[in-house]
Amino acid sequence: MSGTASTEAYLDLMKRALSASLYDESAWIYLEPKRPPLSSLRKPTGYAWDLLRYVTLSALRKRSILGARVRPYQEEVRAEGRDWPCFGYTMIGRKRLDNVQACVEEVLRSDIPGDFLEAGAWRGGTSMFMRALLKVHGVEDRKVWVADSFEGLPVPKDASDGADFSGVDILKVSLDQVRANFARFNLLDDQVEFLPGWFSESLPNAPVKQLAILRLDGDMYSSTMDTLLAMHDRVSPGGYIIADDYHSWESCRRAVHDFLDERQLKPDIKTIDWAGAYWQKEP
Ligand SMILES: C[S@@+](CC[C@H](N)C(=O)[O-])C[C@H]1O[C@@H](n2cnc3c(N)ncnc32)[C@H](O)[C@@H]1O
Repeated sequence: MSGTASTEAYLDLMKRALSASLYDESAWIYLEPKRPPLSSLRKPTGYAWDLLRYVTLSALRKRSILGARVRPYQEEVRAEGRDWPCFGYTMIGRKRLDNVQACVEEVLRSDIPGDFLEAGAWRGGTSMFMRALLKVHGVEDRKVWVADSFEGLPVPKDASDGADFSGVDILKVSLDQVRANFARFNLLDDQVEFLPGWFSESLPNAPVKQLAILRLDGDMYSSTMDTLLAMHDRVSPGGYIIADDYHSWESCRRAVHDFLDERQLKPDIKTIDWAGAYWQKEP
């Protein structure tokens, strides 16, 4: 296998592994034991059923047994990042991983200076893929910055901030877990930096000098806006800004346009898939 062919084979396998596209079971949904609220008394299935479900799942958990809803794995659904894999390392799917690869390889080819930053990393998969790209292309003078609360989404400031996902347990992935995920792929080294905390606090004074790629994946209006306010000016001319939720979260799209309008910027925003979009900062 030539150097280029083996590089492509490694990157292809990385995308399949990170998005858990190699395992049918990754489409299953683990059943969380959640105590039913009193409002479920009004549900047709009734409070008693929800309580029985909660008690049963809790008892099984105590014995390290998980309940799961078996859902068939669908290649196209995963490729578009429409389901959240119950295991695996990223939820963004193949098409948006391909976009990350295209943007990274373009800035390397064109020598656009700067590091890569992802704001909203979840289990770390997309940031891990950026680190893998630096590795296969032999780049040692750029870093990958991984920004996240590492405790899930914040409570929305108001209704226009976006849906309230703050209580969704699957979105809460600790810094230790994300570091362990990088290490599993042999990608944890001094070219990876973590920025723990809410974006509004962690990003403005972060020691990030220059970026070639800024990836926004915080879903909400405030998370998107806080990241743009802190990081847009650090993106090099010719660098890429990727908004993972541009089409899928109205609050994200609104934040992008409020920010661009304020700066009187009119970049050519390109669609990646049903969710993501990206643009190049004017060279
Ligand atoms: C949709 S997930 C990111 C998915 C990830 N990029 C991937 O490859 O699967 C959103 C992440 O953003 C983080 N997040 C959202 N808003 C945030 C904020 N304001 N400050 C810090 N982290 C935030 C959450 O903790 C969560 O890990």
